[in-house]
Amino acid sequence: RMKETGDLLLLSVLSVLNEHSGATQIDAGQGQVVMTNNKSEAFFLSGSTWTGLGSVPMKHVSVGPTGIWGVDNTVHFHVYSGQKLHQVDAGGQDQILGVTSSSTVHCLSSAAASGFKQGDSLSWTTSSRALMYISCSSHGCWGVNSGKEIYFTVNSHIGWVSVEFLPISLLMVEVGTDGTVFMVGGNGNFYQRIGISADVPHGTSWFQIPLSNNIKHASYDLGNLWLVINDGVIMKCTQ
Ligand SMILES: *[C@@H]1O[C@H](CO)[C@@H](O)[C@H](O)[C@H]1NC(C)=O
Repeated sequence: RMKETGDLLLLSVLSVLNEHSGATQIDAGQGQVVMTNNKSEAFFLSGSTWTGLGSVPMKHVSVGPTGIWGVDNTVHFHVYSGQKLHQVDAGGQDQILGVTSSSTVHCLSSAAASGFKQGDSLSWTTSSRALMYISCSSHGCWGVNSGKEIYFTVNSHIGWVSVEFLPISLLMVEVGTDGTVFMVGGNGNFYQRIGISADVPHGTSWFQIPLSNNIKHASYDLGNLWLVINDGVIMKCTQ
């Protein structure tokens, strides 16, 4: 369900998961939570315990309707002209999106992804929009570029529209399964998009959520907000 205008999150810190300081990135979706750390180890959360996701070094993992997707540290995940993905997002209903270190965006349909078996080659399509971080849900996809611009699309096959230019550097944007949107600035500040409605799916403005820590990464699912803060400590906040 989409949030109504001005519907802000009231956050309280539920727990700080210290045993895995060194976290670099976290992704929550479909009630599951996955993360990577600064040793390129990937984990998923079961109860309150992080369990290793195998022995392949990963630099980014994402969980969504088609399962858990990861970008490994080696050259296995070639997509297009030998470019390597550095971020992947599995939150979309019908697609998986990947971004390369040169900001090209690549899309894989869930149909192709669901039938994927080890050894198959994946057929990605490339978007014309250059973005350095993307996040999708069934309510659409959000992206940021290195030029401090934010983009939105209800369907990445149709094309991305510029939402706005912000005079701050942008680290990432994250859309939760329910369409709630957050943004992390390069300065570690944390924002929620407000004014999102069926008529204005990209919302109206950003509200800065005052937090005492610098935020490095964020993900939101089922009323839980997962934050990576200083030294890679994971904080779980709830609505
Ligand atoms: C990973 O992060 C931890 C916690 O901040 C730090 O102690 C450790 O030195 C880091 N390791 C690497 C390989 O960067």
